[in-house]
Amino acid sequence: MFWNDVYKGTPPWDVDHPQPAFQALIQSGEIKPGRALDIGCGRGENAIMLAMNGCNATGIDLAENAISGAEVKAMERHVKVNFVVGNVLQMDRLFTEGEFDIVIDSGLFHVMTDEERPVFARQVHRVLKDEGKYFMLCFSDKEPGEYELPRRVSKAEIESTFSSLFNIIYIKDTVFDSLLSPSSRKAYLLSAVRN
Ligand SMILES: C[S@@+](CC[C@H](N)C(=O)[O-])C[C@H]1O[C@@H](n2cnc3c(N)ncnc32)[C@H](O)[C@@H]1O
Repeated sequence: MFWNDVYKGTPPWDVDHPQPAFQALIQSGEIKPGRALDIGCGRGENAIMLAMNGCNATGIDLAENAISGAEVKAMERHVKVNFVVGNVLQMDRLFTEGEFDIVIDSGLFHVMTDEERPVFARQVHRVLKDEGKYFMLCFSDKEPGEYELPRRVSKAEIESTFSSLFNIIYIKDTVFDSLLSPSSRKAYLLSAVRN
């Protein structure tokens, strides 16, 4: 499987620190202690940060190699995170309705196909409690270059995917740290509240 194979090495998004955009949400108080889910958590830096800041944190990823790396990291740092191998498009098999106060997404939405996007939005909506918060970081269409993947997403695409199920608070310009050169890419940060 593609996602499991990429974690045999170090993929470009696998930086050894949480994404600054999520760190800022903790500093600003937008992310508060609560039941938090990191979808497509990879090797777990963002989920571990949530746990270190008072959240009861769960991370889910399709790639077993990513989850085993995340578990080792959390153990070495003496942090408790519930890491789960699973498909975000089938979270109804794993989590109950309204199980989480917060969902964060660092680079998962931007790998979804057009067909997957509505399923994805419904799954995120389902696992959040009423008025639960969804924070999503994705590559933005302001990022220059010829490459096709991952997709660079427009504000209009974010709105059309999420606005029927979520109240969009803001879509801000920010950056996505990576191991590529230059090391940060133009990104959007979505803050949304479940309807
Ligand atoms: C761009 S990476 C970002 C990883 C991590 N959030 C980070 O910031 O390092 C996208 C992640 O989503 C995972 N993924 C892709 N499709 C998925 C799905 N349908 N369900 C769960 N995880 C998925 C991949 O295995 C990968 O770890």
